[in-house]
Amino acid sequence: MSIIAIVGNKGGVGKTTLSLNVATGLNNRSRTAVIDADPQRSSLQWRAFSESDAVSVYEAEDDLAAQANTLRQDYEQVVIDCPPSVYAPQTNKALEVSNRAIIPVQPSPMDLWATVHILEAVEKARQINTELKPLLVINQLEPRTMLSKLVRDAVSEIGIPVADAMVRRRAVFRSSALEGKSIYDVGRRGDAAVEEIENLIQEILQ
Ligand SMILES: Nc1ncnc2c1ncn2[C@@H]1O[C@H](COP(=O)(O)OP(=O)(O)O)[C@@H](O)[C@H]1O
Ligand SMILES: [Mg+2]
Repeated sequence: MSIIAIVGNKGGVGKTTLSLNVATGLNNRSRTAVIDADPQRSSLQWRAFSESDAVSVYEAEDDLAAQANTLRQDYEQVVIDCPPSVYAPQTNKALEVSNRAIIPVQPSPMDLWATVHILEAVEKARQINTELKPLLVINQLEPRTMLSKLVRDAVSEIGIPVADAMVRRRAVFRSSALEGKSIYDVGRRGDAAVEEIENLIQEILQ
């Protein structure tokens, strides 16, 4: 089983959005579940009003490693939606059990500064979990702005590999969530977003 932690050092960067949509895309390939480890429980709230065939979301237990081990019986992949801080114990536990750490960053300086601390947390986890591979993903990109280009250049200097796949700011990420759906479940209106998430999944699975 592979475990993918979606981590960040801030709220609002897209951890939950990426968790649910990446997990849905993975679930289309092989059985995938989400563990919601953020005390805000947004993934669980989404699941509470989504359709019955939506990806399963479990509330995180204190012992994430034991929980992941139990889920191993039923799932090929688990995505962990982490708390908005690298200082939260659950973030560190998630990094210790995961094969991948996906780190969404928004094209803003504040986000980049917050990301520096993630590098430290990833390095620390890698001392215990040598398999952990981190990947930064630019989320909420507005391609026409100069800022986005500057941020892309700056992101590549952080010292963590940056995904070629970038996720644009698209209304469908919000509207689908509001309907308790993933971007895969809204027809043509989700196509462009699905393409971006599929490209990201390809890189995650590499
Ligand atoms: N690529 C995107 N395009 C448009 N809106 C987005 C995108 N990613 C996230 N959002 C929106 O931004 C807000 C914060 O995202 P969320 O996934 O809840 O972040 P986090 O879990 O890191 O706090 C939500 O309203 C979400 O719908
Ligand atoms: Mg969240």
